[in-house]
Amino acid sequence: THLPEAHPLRSGGTASSPMIRAMCGDRPETPPVWFMRQAGRSLPEYREAREGTGMLEACLTPELAAEITLQPVRRHGVDAAIFFSDIVVPLKLAGLDVDIVPGRGPVMGTAYRTAEQIAALPEIPDSAFDPIREAVRLTVEQLGGTPLIGFAGAPFTVAAYMVEGGPSRDHLLPRTMMHRDPEAWAALAEWTARTAGRFLAAQIEAGASAVQLFDSWAGSLPERDYRRHVLPYSAQALAAVEHYGVPRVHFGTGTGELLPAMKEAGADVVGVDYRLDLDEAARRLGPDTPLQGNIDPALLDAGWEVLREHAVDVLSRGRAAVSHVVNLGHGVPPGTDPTVLTRLVDLIHGREPDAPER
Ligand code: CP3
Repeated sequence: THLPEAHPLRSGGTASSPMIRAMCGDRPETPPVWFMRQAGRSLPEYREAREGTGMLEACLTPELAAEITLQPVRRHGVDAAIFFSDIVVPLKLAGLDVDIVPGRGPVMGTAYRTAEQIAALPEIPDSAFDPIREAVRLTVEQLGGTPLIGFAGAPFTVAAYMVEGGPSRDHLLPRTMMHRDPEAWAALAEWTARTAGRFLAAQIEAGASAVQLFDSWAGSLPERDYRRHVLPYSAQALAAVEHYGVPRVHFGTGTGELLPAMKEAGADVVGVDYRLDLDEAARRLGPDTPLQGNIDPALLDAGWEVLREHAVDVLSRGRAAVSHVVNLGHGVPPGTDPTVLTRLVDLIHGREPDAPER
């Protein structure tokens, strides 16, 4: 292995955690669960910790980022922490003009649309990743045998923000660019792939026991464009960390038609959004692929009985795959009652009185 000797996966006991075992194709006695966006505005302790600090500033303050990463683990007893950061943090580290506007998302001071602008994108100095490494070190020190999941935004999703200059619904501009100016697109996708690979490597070397590549907006692409203009770059980002041997999760939304291609990009675990049942995902991917997902976030606020029945159904459909990492089908909505998330973890762990029989 290329992991440092003191890495939690080698010497810290995370290798035998239910989360890592499930990501490696095993079925531990208790299904492991974590939630995308488990750290965030659904938690009063998060809102308090963030008071007066901008999002990107919080991400680059190691003590604060570590504290926020740990909050949902303490409160809910989830089986993994997800590193508190953002997919646009590497853009900030590259010195680009980017901000995260509350209620809106990442906004760029400049949109990157020409070959000249893309050719001038800077290389990120290695030392720029130091606050990330320090935050990860502080976090894993306190997590013990609970794994930390690191992450990066996939080339298409990050490039979509760079080309649009901010959030968009249909991602028309990057989708047009890959046809109108395929060379400029390739250069941008290559830059974001290299950046994502380095962001993942920094987190892994500092102690992350698994990683997830978020291609949140890949579902806006037809499969032929995905395969030709996106998959090679996501594969590049995932290949950059293959030698560490940590499980790599690949997730996007609206990706029912893309799941086999997303696996081919080099994923060990495929994340499924809430639109596609897990047994159907297992049929499309073959039963040997570990799956992650896919409780519908909309049902978190639909009443406990409705949510419980849905969660039990998700667990049962997940049995069609070799192993199952329980998660939502997208992130926790900001207005979610956190006590519902704790109760859901208890249900999945078999601690609710009406937990499903295993
Ligand atoms: O718990 C976690 O999942 C940890 C950290 C995390 C954040 N962003 C923190 C965050 C992760 C993994 C992300 C990834 C991310 N960021 C994605 C991929 C995941 C997905 O949801 O599809 C995307 C698309 C982004 C870009 C982004 N950043 C958006 C769309 C937003 C929401 C804007 C808003 O205010 O509604 C952000 C901001 C953001 N990232 C917040 C958090 C906790 C909210 C910031 C705040 O508290 O004001």
